[in-house]
Amino acid sequence: MSPFAVDVIRAKRDGRRLSDEQIDWVVDAYTRGVVAEEQMAALAMAIFLRGMDDAEIERWTGAMVGSGSRLSLKVSRPTVDKHSTGGVGDKITLPLAPLVAACGAAVPQLSGRGLGHTGGTLDKLESIPGWRAALSPEEIAVQLESVGAVVCAATEGLAPADRKLYALRDVTGTVESIPLIASSIMSKKIAEGASGLVLDVKAGSGAFMKTVDDARRLAHTLVGIGSAHGVSCTALITDMNVPLGRAVGNAVEVAEAVEVLQGGGPADVVELTVALAGEMLALAGISADPAAVLASGAAYETWARMITAQGGDPSAPLPKPQHVHVVPAPESGVLASLDAYAVGVAAWRLGAGRARKGDPVQAAAGVLCHATLGDEVVAGEPLLELHTDTPDALPAALEALSGAYTVASAVPTARGIVLDTARA
Ligand code: URA
Repeated sequence: MSPFAVDVIRAKRDGRRLSDEQIDWVVDAYTRGVVAEEQMAALAMAIFLRGMDDAEIERWTGAMVGSGSRLSLKVSRPTVDKHSTGGVGDKITLPLAPLVAACGAAVPQLSGRGLGHTGGTLDKLESIPGWRAALSPEEIAVQLESVGAVVCAATEGLAPADRKLYALRDVTGTVESIPLIASSIMSKKIAEGASGLVLDVKAGSGAFMKTVDDARRLAHTLVGIGSAHGVSCTALITDMNVPLGRAVGNAVEVAEAVEVLQGGGPADVVELTVALAGEMLALAGISADPAAVLASGAAYETWARMITAQGGDPSAPLPKPQHVHVVPAPESGVLASLDAYAVGVAAWRLGAGRARKGDPVQAAAGVLCHATLGDEVVAGEPLLELHTDTPDALPAALEALSGAYTVASAVPTARGIVLDTARA
């Protein structure tokens, strides 16, 4: 064990700022295994409780980028990426990446797998028969040039300090810290090498940030790190009190994304896809109308090429669940609330998510919402459909949903999905 590590832990425990030298050393030494897991756990908790100032966060992020390699994206189009802080039913990457590529940008979207109640983009795409998440840096470059969009797993060498630290935070109650979340997200995105980045910072019950004020703070921190490291960033703060769209799970979310790409789909998914695409195109310096490109079918064509390039069959039927359990509306009226966190937990318990890293997920598991806020519902008619291959999971999923929705006589005021914007 390193005695220097104890000094760094004590400094943060006592509320002092860490020097550049301390930050560079501790991140590097942790990556190399010189700082022990229990020492980093103590430091993460000290950071969680005491925070870090902007200069510390920027330095910490830089040290995490420096723990690994950077992808060099040599493509002829401008590169721009999107990152979401994670929500329930958040399948936006699926229609967004091909849409922005169809408008003329290159979208390198290195994504993760789900942990806990928020789903992972790779888990969703793996429900498409044949689709492959692992690409080499060379394959990423070739696909970016030929198709314009790649959604794949982060390559091993990118920000290895974050991979270790994220797994540690997950089991030490230190995930929900703005400095740690912001540096974790931005280290991966800076290492990935896109020149522009749009952040979708979720606020609400289904998000890490439960309040709009906290989401705003996170958004400004993320954008500030981007500026300090030469990446142009814009952040949208968006609502995550209600699931996005009607589908929550893996294959069901792919099906909904395809509906959007074919000109249909739920209004909130379309609205957010077009809003994020507009910001990405602005950063890329491309003047195109994403709503018109979506309506033209060009984004769907790019989707089909993107899936095919990674071994998937875009026209193959998606997996179907072995069991479907229908939850009826308890009374007639208007759906007044539908709690995103509860629906996310239900989908997770049905098998769509994993409790531990490396667990398998069920492609067909999830929740299909027959109504969203403001829709009329009729007593006894289907309100939610629970999909699973393991019916033993149903009682726990139903328990998660108890008290998760209300039916009222008045229509709630319409919610806009984009609540605020943070720019550099
Ligand atoms: N996503 C990340 O990549 N890191 C976090 O810490 C939280 C969400």
